[in-house]
Amino acid sequence: MTKLGGVLQPVAKQLHKQHIGGIVTKALQDADVELKDLDAIAVTVKPGLVMPLNVGVEHAKELVRKSSKPMIPIHHMEAHALTARMLERIDFPFLVFLVSGGHCLLAVAKSVDQFLLLGRGIDGSPGEAFDKTARSLRLKNLPQCEGLSGGASVELMAKNGNPHAFEFPTQQRSRKCDFSMSGLKEFARQIIEKEERRQGLLAGDVLSNAADICASFQFGLLQHFIKKLQRAFLFCELKNLLPEQNRVLVMSGGVASNSYLKQNLEKVCNIYNCRMVCPPPRLCTDNGAMIAWLVTSRESL
Ligand code: KG4
Ligand code: ZN
Repeated sequence: MTKLGGVLQPVAKQLHKQHIGGIVTKALQDADVELKDLDAIAVTVKPGLVMPLNVGVEHAKELVRKSSKPMIPIHHMEAHALTARMLERIDFPFLVFLVSGGHCLLAVAKSVDQFLLLGRGIDGSPGEAFDKTARSLRLKNLPQCEGLSGGASVELMAKNGNPHAFEFPTQQRSRKCDFSMSGLKEFARQIIEKEERRQGLLAGDVLSNAADICASFQFGLLQHFIKKLQRAFLFCELKNLLPEQNRVLVMSGGVASNSYLKQNLEKVCNIYNCRMVCPPPRLCTDNGAMIAWLVTSRESL
C-alpha cells in the first residue's frame, strides 16, 4: 500500500477479499470454537473506506447465512472509544481522544451509545500526516524502519532528533476543539523539499537530518494536541460535563501507540486532575476484539 503512495480503495478491497476468509478461520481456531458456537456476528459498517468495508459486511452476511446467527452492525470509532473498558473499570462520563489513520475525534463518552463530539479533524487525520511525512522522507529505505508503519517509523527516528530544529506551525488560533493537519503536512513537505535540494540527494537516499524533521514534526503535532485538549478540559469544566473525582481521558486509535505523544499528553491530563488511560498498541490499532467488545458493552446497558 505504502509503495502506491497511500490506500487505494480497489487495492484495499482486493486485499481484504484475499485475506478475510483465512483470518476468520484462524480466529475461530485460536479461540477453539466453531461458527455454530458463536452468539452473533458483529461487523464494522462505518465509518471508513466503503469498498473494503463492504468486503467485511458481505463476508459477515455469508457467515450469517451459513450459521443463522444474528448480525450486529458496529460503528468503528465507538469500538475504538470503548476498548479501554475491556481492560479496566472506567465509569461514564469520560473524555475520549481517538487518533487513527482515518480519524481524529475528541468527545465526551456519556454512555455506551451516547457521545458528545467536541472536536474533529477538519482536513485529514494525524495518522495520515505521520504516514505522509514518513513517505516523503523515504523512511522505508532505512533498515531500522523495515516493517514499521509510517507513524512508528517517525517515532523511532524522532528519538535521535532535535524537536526544536524546525518550527512547525501548530495552528493554535482556532477557538474550537477541531484539529487541523494541513499546516503541519504542508510545512513538512516544504522543508523536506528544501533540504533535499540543499543536500543534493540521489534517488532513494534519506536526508541526513531526517531525525530532526521527525522530532520537530512530532513536537509540532503535540503542541496542537495540547492546545485542543486544554480547550476541551476548560469547556467540560464550564459545562460540568466531567466528574470532579476519577476523571479519565481515554486515548485510542493507531496513533495512540506513540509513546512520546502519550507521555506528554499524560502530563497535561495530570494538571487537569485527570487520569489518562491508553490501551496497549495491539488494542489501539485496528483489531477484531474491540468490535466484539462493543457488543458486550451494549449488552450491559
Ligand atoms: O487505528 P489504526 O490502526 O487504523 C485506522 O483505523 O486508521 O491506525 C493506523 C495509523 C497509521 O496511520 C499509522 O501510521 C499510525 O496509526 N501509527 C502510529 C504509530 N503506530 C501506528 N502513529 C504514530 N506513532 C506510532 N507509534
Ligand atoms: Zn481504527
